[in-house]
Amino acid sequence: MLNKAVLWNLSYGVYIVSTMENNKPVGCVANSIMQLTHDTIAISLNHQNYTNKITKETKKLAISILNTEVEENLIPTFGFCSSKDRNKFENVEYKLIDNLPIITNANGYITLEIIENVELETHTLFVGKIINGDILNNSIPMTYKYYHEVIKGRAPKTAPTYIEEEITKEGIKYKCSICGYIYEGDIDKENNDFFCPICKQPKNVFVKI
Ligand SMILES: Cc1cc2nc3c(=O)[nH]c(=O)nc-3n(C[C@H](O)[C@H](O)[C@H](O)COP(=O)(O)O)c2cc1C
Repeated sequence: MLNKAVLWNLSYGVYIVSTMENNKPVGCVANSIMQLTHDTIAISLNHQNYTNKITKETKKLAISILNTEVEENLIPTFGFCSSKDRNKFENVEYKLIDNLPIITNANGYITLEIIENVELETHTLFVGKIINGDILNNSIPMTYKYYHEVIKGRAPKTAPTYIEEEITKEGIKYKCSICGYIYEGDIDKENNDFFCPICKQPKNVFVKI
C-alpha cells in the first residue's frame, strides 16, 4: 500500500524552467528538479507540457529559483497555463542569459545544456549539464511545502507530485475545474467578482463535488 501523502515529505524547491522557441520565451513551473553530480541537474517535465516539446528542440533550459516574495500571478500563470497559447513572459520582468529567459526577481538562475533525455510513462527526465549560474537576490527560497501550506497552492495533474486525494478530503464542496483548487463552503454566497485564488479563473469554473 502506498500512502501518497508521504511523497510530499520529500523536499523540493519551486522553480520556473524556461527555454527559447526562436524569439519567444516559453516556460513552466516545476518542482521536480535535483542536482545529480557537481555539474549535472535532472528535471522531470510532463509530455503534455509545451516546455517539454521546445526543450527537446533547443536542448537548452534555464532554471529560475523562486523565493517567497514571488509576484502573486507568476505561479498561476506559469503553472496552470500553456506557453503554446500565449507568451507567459509578457508581463514578467526577465532577462536573457545564454539566450535563455531568467526571472529577474528569482533568487538565482542556472543555465543548462541538455545532454540526455529519459522517457518515462508520463514525463521526460531531462539531464542538463550546467553552463552558468549566479545568485540574483537573497530572499528565502520557496519550498514546495511552503507553496502547499502557506500559499495553499495546488499542483495540476501534469506535475509529477500531483496527489489525487487532494480532491477527496472531507468537507470539500467545490473544485476549480482549471487548477483543482478546492473551495469549502457555499460558493454561491460569494460575490460575482470572486475568483480562484490559484489560477484566477471566475466563480463559474467551479464544479460541485
Ligand atoms: C507547484 C507546481 C509544481 C509543478 N511541477 C511540475 C513539474 O515538476 N514538472 C512538470 O512537468 N510540471 C509541473 N507543474 C505543471 C506545469 O507547470 C504546468 O502543466 C504548465 O501549465 C505547463 O506549461 P507549458 O505548457 O507552457 O509547458 C507544476 C505546477 C505547479 C503549480
